[in-house]
Amino acid sequence: MIEVRRLTSVDRDLLRELRRRAVTESPEAFNTTVADESVLTASDWDARMLETAYFAGFDGEVPVGLAGGRVNAADWDLVSMWVASEARGTGLVDQLIGAVCAAAAAAGAERVGLRVVVGNVRALRVYERWGFVPEGDPERLPRDPSLTRQRMYLPVTTSTSKLR
Ligand SMILES: CC(C)(COP(=O)(O)OP(=O)(O)OC[C@H]1O[C@@H](n2cnc3c(N)ncnc32)[C@H](O)[C@@H]1OP(=O)(O)O)[C@@H](O)C(=O)NCCC(=O)NCCS
Repeated sequence: MIEVRRLTSVDRDLLRELRRRAVTESPEAFNTTVADESVLTASDWDARMLETAYFAGFDGEVPVGLAGGRVNAADWDLVSMWVASEARGTGLVDQLIGAVCAAAAAAGAERVGLRVVVGNVRALRVYERWGFVPEGDPERLPRDPSLTRQRMYLPVTTSTSKLR
């Protein structure tokens, strides 16, 4: 069974390794490159962990997925969404999105937003299934202006947001 837990400061190297795997395996999905992230220092990763709540999925001891949530004005953003190829189709993606949405609601956010590269059909299917709705026009991906990405938002429930 795959379990999800929030990463803490002691998981910095694990986060770095998960990101390396994610960006190596799915470079088209992210607005970064392995080269960009490989130059980040330990303190850069510590800073990321302070601004972003990261959740990872573990199949036993083996990490097989990642998602992060961070404040963006009055909303939260869902970032770094990735499930390892061997864990796709298991429902882990839903556990990870659920963890980020719960954290956002508990922190008082009313919406969770994300950016998805246009043409990433598999990710789009998941977000639509969750009820994320496109907002605004697609924008060019800074890393590769030949690609575009779409903003999407999901309201998080009032009852959950009262948990703060
Ligand atoms: C996007 C991602 C997190 C989704 O997790 P997953 O475990 O693969 O998701 P699922 O297996 O539940 O599949 C999601 C949907 O895509 C469909 N799907 C599966 N394979 C597909 C394919 N090759 N092409 C199109 N759709 C596909 C599934 O049927 C499912 O649709 P449904 O909910 O209507 O049945 C995962 O594929 C991933 O990490 N991809 C690479 C990184 C990435 O794209 N991250 C998102 C950045 S915004």
